[in-house]
Amino acid sequence: MLAVVFLLTAAVLVLVQARMRRQVRADLASTLRTESRVYAELEKIRRDQAQQSAQLIANQPTLKALMSTNDRPTVEDGSKSMLAMSRADFLILENPHNEMLALHSKSTGVNAAQVEPLLRATEGSEDWWFVEGRLYDVNFVPIVAGFGREERVLGRLALGHEMRADSILSSGSFGKSAFAFERQGKLLLSSLPTDVWGDLESSLPHDNSSTSERDFEVRGERFLASSVELPGSHPVRLYSLQSYDQATSFLHALNRMLIVLGAVAVLAGALIAFFISRQITRPLEQLVAGAKQLQQGDFNFKIPARGNDEVADLSRAFEEMRESLKKSREGMLRSARLEAVGRLAGGVAHDFNNLVMIIKGYSDMLLDSATPEAKPHIEEIKRAGDRASALTRQLLAFSRKQILEPQVLDPNQTVRNMVKMLHVLIGADIELVTSLSDEIGRVQADPGQLEQVVMNLAVNARDAMSSGGKLIIETRAAHLDADYAAVNPEARAGDYVLLAVTDNGCGMSKETQAHIFEPFFTTKEQGKGTGLGLATVYGIVKQSKGHIAVYSELNVGTTFKIYLPAVSTSAQAQAPQKTASAAKGTGTVLLVEDEPALRLLAAASLKRLGYSVIEAENGVEALTLADTAAKIDVVVADIVMPQMGGPEMVEKLRARRGNFAVIFMTGYTEAAALENARIGSETVLLHKPFSSETLAAKIQELQKAAWPAAKAASSST
Ligand SMILES: Nc1ncnc2c1ncn2[C@@H]1O[C@H](COP(=O)(O)OP(=O)(O)OP(=O)(O)O)[C@@H](O)[C@H]1O
Ligand SMILES: [Mg+2]
Repeated sequence: MLAVVFLLTAAVLVLVQARMRRQVRADLASTLRTESRVYAELEKIRRDQAQQSAQLIANQPTLKALMSTNDRPTVEDGSKSMLAMSRADFLILENPHNEMLALHSKSTGVNAAQVEPLLRATEGSEDWWFVEGRLYDVNFVPIVAGFGREERVLGRLALGHEMRADSILSSGSFGKSAFAFERQGKLLLSSLPTDVWGDLESSLPHDNSSTSERDFEVRGERFLASSVELPGSHPVRLYSLQSYDQATSFLHALNRMLIVLGAVAVLAGALIAFFISRQITRPLEQLVAGAKQLQQGDFNFKIPARGNDEVADLSRAFEEMRESLKKSREGMLRSARLEAVGRLAGGVAHDFNNLVMIIKGYSDMLLDSATPEAKPHIEEIKRAGDRASALTRQLLAFSRKQILEPQVLDPNQTVRNMVKMLHVLIGADIELVTSLSDEIGRVQADPGQLEQVVMNLAVNARDAMSSGGKLIIETRAAHLDADYAAVNPEARAGDYVLLAVTDNGCGMSKETQAHIFEPFFTTKEQGKGTGLGLATVYGIVKQSKGHIAVYSELNVGTTFKIYLPAVSTSAQAQAPQKTASAAKGTGTVLLVEDEPALRLLAAASLKRLGYSVIEAENGVEALTLADTAAKIDVVVADIVMPQMGGPEMVEKLRARRGNFAVIFMTGYTEAAALENARIGSETVLLHKPFSSETLAAKIQELQKAAWPAAKAASSST
């Protein structure tokens, strides 16, 4: 690119120079032509004057008288003073027979021997003589005596004027040019230094026919010359000449200057282009670098955007994209971490749950037969079991593996029901404010779990406001849009009911906020907190397809916002159900459970209540045993078991015999697992851990529903 610009510039310079050379040559030629012609004119005038003064001398009677003697010594002697009068450089008198009678000269070079041959060779009134290295312009006039018929030629007068270089130059005809007189290839006189004459002589174009200007070289220097012929018996050629190289030397200087200027211009242009392109390419490079960093997982690479051009806009757009990507990535990482912890906690809780049930079940059984001294101890064991069971429930809630019993409910009602209890919970130092909007819809949630959520948040708020404060619980309708969902990958866009719990307590640092939903994360001193409160809240909200957000400022306060998907207000809020109390019963129960301890426990408590129990370890065994049984009133089966699970077993059994009720037990089952197990919504579910009372109550509930007639009959007796 740079080279092309440079070449173009050079080409332009070459063209300009060629043009200027032509112009200079034409100007020079015209000058030289004018100069030689002007000098030729001057020379003519000078000759005329010289001719007149020669004529004046020739007309003098004394000269005529002298010439009449035709005696050489007399004429020689008598004409001496005439040289001074004539102002010429030499004066010659000659008789009609071409015999020289007198020669007077200012220089010794002009003597008889030199002059006589020239004199004989000259006819006419003028000639150019070259004598002893000097050029003379010679005028001739006849010396005539008498008039008319008496006229008699007495001889010739010749006056010679030396041509001097300095006086020619001072005539002003030649300006800056040099001149040269030449005849038949011989240089006679020149204003140039004599040492170049030899070269000049051999170089001069001896083409007398042409009057046009000619080029020639002297010692490698180029000259241009214009010539004109000066008349005479032996004419000479006058050259006006000038060094063409010198005349165009300014062009070289100009050229050099132009090349330097051109180079500077090209370089400056290139630099400007470079800086402009840097202006554009640098931000683009940064964008590319930013994109690469993103690819490599670095979300902190900032791209500065300066100015208002498109590139800056692009940079800004990229920055926004990076920021939101960073946020959503953080959100995703957080939820993935909670998910992993949840799975772990869920697994532990599930196994732990079975153990707790065994402990509680056996302590129940022991209580029946315990001595009064042993009773308090066993009760203590049972209480510990209850506490452990509450803990596992929380863990299961967090891992979203507890079975919820969602209902359509009014969150305002849930809060109102809790106000009294909350007052007690938070104490007199903390003011409770509720702000409940009537505009909100219903939500689909497990009422007990929703209460748990509010309670956990209220307890945390209380703990954050150790020296009193204000607890605000509010509800209102909310809409989460796609933008919010884009930045918070855990949230889905849609209409929600917002339940917000705000305190003006100690607040949390960003670092704390990043971990609060993790189970067992607590900042409270040992024994004060388990770190399961918010984990439970998180699990319940997630399992209810909701979203939770926290806003907190250190020493200012905290707001937890819980968004639960809104269902239409027309959906009827259900009244809470009450469970029937345990009582003795009759009938045959097919109990299918793979965990032996649990199975034994459940069987023992059912038998205690009066049921006959058939125990099976899995679905396959249950089917075999069922074939031998005369009657089965209720099937109580675990959902997930090796070989054959509960639902499949029940389906097979239904094909063989009808008329039995079914209760499924489960420690946990995700919604998907429930769906896969193809359990109808009419099925009764029992969550582990359950007490024998709960199991008995469920069985009796089912029996009543199945045989209302029998129930009526029994009540009438
Ligand atoms: N409203 C709040 N203000 C300030 N910090 C809070 C607030 N709510 C929770 N936190 C912080 O989050 C941590 C975790 O809370 P979380 O409820 O899960 O556990 P905990 O309250 O410490 O124990 P517990 O299991 O008894 O609830 C708390 O220890 C506390 O540091
Ligand atoms: Mg707590």
